[in-house]
Amino acid sequence: MKRVFSGVQPTGNIHLGNYLGALRQFVELQDDHECIYCIVDMHAITVPQDPKVLKEHILDVAALYLAVGVDPKKSIVFVQSDVPGHAELSWVLTCNSYTGELSRMTQFKAKSHNKESAPTGLFTYPVLMAADILLYATDIVPVGNDQKQHIELCRDIANRINNTRKKTFVVPDGRFLKEGARIMALDDPTQKMSKSAENIHSRISLLDDPAKIKKSIMKATTDSEGVIRFDVENKPGISNLMNIYSVLAGVPLEQIEKDYEGKGYGDFKKDLVEIVVNALAPIRERYEEIRHSDELIEILKDGAVRANAISEKTMARVKKNFGLGL
Ligand code: AMP
Ligand code: TRP
Repeated sequence: MKRVFSGVQPTGNIHLGNYLGALRQFVELQDDHECIYCIVDMHAITVPQDPKVLKEHILDVAALYLAVGVDPKKSIVFVQSDVPGHAELSWVLTCNSYTGELSRMTQFKAKSHNKESAPTGLFTYPVLMAADILLYATDIVPVGNDQKQHIELCRDIANRINNTRKKTFVVPDGRFLKEGARIMALDDPTQKMSKSAENIHSRISLLDDPAKIKKSIMKATTDSEGVIRFDVENKPGISNLMNIYSVLAGVPLEQIEKDYEGKGYGDFKKDLVEIVVNALAPIRERYEEIRHSDELIEILKDGAVRANAISEKTMARVKKNFGLGL
């Protein structure tokens, strides 16, 4: 069985983009792959975090994993900082990556606002991500499109080390979806939907109630043409909404165009509200059941033990191949 690894940051506001781009794939893959899903809390501290809030967000994301359908009987679910191998391997990889390649990462450029000096953790963020992936001899990494560059870097580092010393790592492939891989902000369809945008109506969080979902969709930016046609370049707003509709309702884009011929954006948006509300209702329900349960803690503890056992094998190989330790 091929091994799958992915992670989500515990930073609150998990949204429809995270679900359609990443979490949906997590569930799809778990029947015929060995899946490992991580809550990457060490990535979260690359920007300042309130410790109490971070703790809660870790459990929020864990509960959301389960609520969308990740099954702890099939998949390993755990918290990154509970397995020491991530930090250990990250250092070894840091010594085998270059400031030039890290400076080219678009996420770093965006998060450091192109300032001359930025926190080192933001700069080496993709190296820690590479460590997450390589630590588990991962074959496949399901993520949204925005992570393409980070996956490429991970492959480069793995190949570099494999080619200069003994074969140490499995070189992973990213898995990106065609539809839903990049969901855009509702208020500005030229930006990706994000957890941190100030306007809450820019995103639909997975735990939003129906009234909020309705408001965000009805307010969503479209264009003045009034025709429901998929055209990302000229009509990014309506195309983004059509993308969401298509994936959640399982209706191809061309069919949506036909179904809404002669109808206005208002009609389309009303139907989309219903589709999104119905898709998120069972997720919210399951989340409420599990979020404050002892079961959740047990699942994460058990996940950490299982993840640690796999990671130790990789670290033993890394130490041997690098001549580290006794
Ligand atoms: P993050 O919350 O940044 O850790 O992202 C978790 C996952 O969601 C990653 O696989 C991202 O690629 C994916 N993701 C984040 N934003 C979007 C978006 N707007 N559209 C599609 N996928 C996304
Ligand atoms: N950087 C990813 C994001 O922001 C999260 C992440 C950290 C990740 N480590 C990972 C994703 C390993 C996949 C595999 O979305």
